[in-house]
Amino acid sequence: VEPADESEGGVRDDGAFSLVVDGYDAVYSGVAASPTFRQLWAEHAYGGPFPPDYAHISFLTLDELEAMAAYLGLGRDTVLADLACGAGGPGLWVAARSGCSVVGIDPSQAGLAAARQRADVAGLADRARYQAGTFSDTNLDDRSMAGVISIDAIQYAPDKRAVFSEVRRILGPGGRVAFSAFEVDPERVQGLPVLGVDPVDDYAALLEDAGFAIAWTRESDGWADRVSATFTAVTEAMPTLIDEMGDAAASSLGMEAALTLQFRPYRRRVVVAATAT
Ligand SMILES: C[S@@+](CC[C@H](N)C(=O)[O-])C[C@H]1O[C@@H](n2cnc3c(N)ncnc32)[C@H](O)[C@@H]1O
Repeated sequence: VEPADESEGGVRDDGAFSLVVDGYDAVYSGVAASPTFRQLWAEHAYGGPFPPDYAHISFLTLDELEAMAAYLGLGRDTVLADLACGAGGPGLWVAARSGCSVVGIDPSQAGLAAARQRADVAGLADRARYQAGTFSDTNLDDRSMAGVISIDAIQYAPDKRAVFSEVRRILGPGGRVAFSAFEVDPERVQGLPVLGVDPVDDYAALLEDAGFAIAWTRESDGWADRVSATFTAVTEAMPTLIDEMGDAAASSLGMEAALTLQFRPYRRRVVVAATAT
């Protein structure tokens, strides 16, 4: 598997993309060794039941994933793409429940390695594959997917329009996408790396322009409190996180925590379901 290019669909963002991927590589390598990270994430980020074998590092609740899976309506002999899959938990959960296969795409090699290991442990290796790619360059064939999910990552894409045209390209007509993502406040992210590169405060118009009919959009319950409680807990647990996860992972998390608490970059966290027309 080729490593993902550090440009995203030809859009270069002066090293910020590599910084993000290096940070995620460190975090995915450190999570397994950190009970404190897993505990604080479960308590604050999703604050409810979520099967630990399919845990994630985002703000996804089990209710949200159930609603997404119900909308996608996948079954055996269908393939789901999980874009920005990281360690692959949510996509594998859908595969386990529905019988579909899953292909996970992420630029982080450590995330992909963790996802492969997790698929093995869950007995799903024959229905799961993981390969390097980005939102705008998934390396997946035209019309090859029955469904697409993406959990809490689209806000990092340097070209949001390219994200939805790529999703439309890999889905056939009638194919469905369900994603969660943050919408940013453009004023608050002005000049920031990554979140400030292509700030989008409402995904609806981009989806419609790319050839999707939106079925529903839901603002995620309590997202703002969950985000601030999580990153406050990360900041307070920093010495323990450094011990358990190592410097690189803890400092990447610490940087995200500081930036999120200082700039309050997010306007909404949404869960969106749409069909390709
Ligand atoms: C908050 S994590 C979410 C991971 C996973 N979906 C989950 O729920 O645990 C964000 C993910 O986005 C990935 N990512 C960052 N920039 C990306 C890009 N331009 N294209 C695709 N994935 C990207 C990161 O490598 C990381 O795995």
